[in-house]
Amino acid sequence: MNKPIGVIDSGVGGLTVVHELMRQLPREKLIYLGDTLRCPYGPRTEKEIIRFTWEMVDFLLTKDIKMLVVACNTATAYTLEQLQKNLTIPVVGVIQPGARAAIKSTLNNHVGIIGTEGTVRSNAYSNALTMLKPGLNTISLACPTFVPIVEQGILSGSYAEKTVEHGLLPLKQFSEMDTLILGCTHYPLLKEVIQQVVGPDITLISSSEETARETSTILQINQLLNDETEPCYHQFYTTGDVDNFTSLTKRIFNSSIDNLKSVAIEKAVI
Ligand code: DGL
Repeated sequence: MNKPIGVIDSGVGGLTVVHELMRQLPREKLIYLGDTLRCPYGPRTEKEIIRFTWEMVDFLLTKDIKMLVVACNTATAYTLEQLQKNLTIPVVGVIQPGARAAIKSTLNNHVGIIGTEGTVRSNAYSNALTMLKPGLNTISLACPTFVPIVEQGILSGSYAEKTVEHGLLPLKQFSEMDTLILGCTHYPLLKEVIQQVVGPDITLISSSEETARETSTILQINQLLNDETEPCYHQFYTTGDVDNFTSLTKRIFNSSIDNLKSVAIEKAVI
């Protein structure tokens, strides 16, 4: 079916998932929306996260998407169930796939999770992990300073190193950890710095690969895979500044993206 897959995030972080979707599903058309204007979602209230996410979803539904990928852990934590219940198209989040990948990786059952304040507060990862594997030892840490630097394009260098080093200090107490979940789709963009800070013995998990695999399976089961042969084009939307978004996407994809537009999605609150 030649309809697009919708992908949402609070900003550029979800592009790490888009990158993997493009790799695993090269024939699928993607429509991405980053709510850059209201990023970060992490420190916001549950009510705001739910409202903003629905505004993104409502926008993408006008584009006739056949499936939705919530490429934001914070939005997944607070809205996945209600999106799955209320939408008639399949909806995939990033938390279950991330939890599965971590369970595959850990050899000693000590798993760390870093994410936004909202994701950590929701306990969504620790619940998903212990549901899959009871008895697993987990520690969760919110890293509120990471998303703002990623959105500014600071992905390496001494400022990024200092920010990450300081943010991850509390993890030192959890010395047995062999696996660390990057529980925010922005964090894979800081992967090199994070790896440098935690050391080579800890495996870093980003949910993008597993999320793309799950998306592929769901498309197949529901007979929704694109069966047309013409080359697909993707569309990108941001609620924020187009130039800033373009320069960040250039760094993520190593090439510039076409079809980027700015859009307003906020609805009046009654
Ligand atoms: N990239 C998002 C996540 O995976 C949210 C970051 C934010 O807006 O705070 O949680």
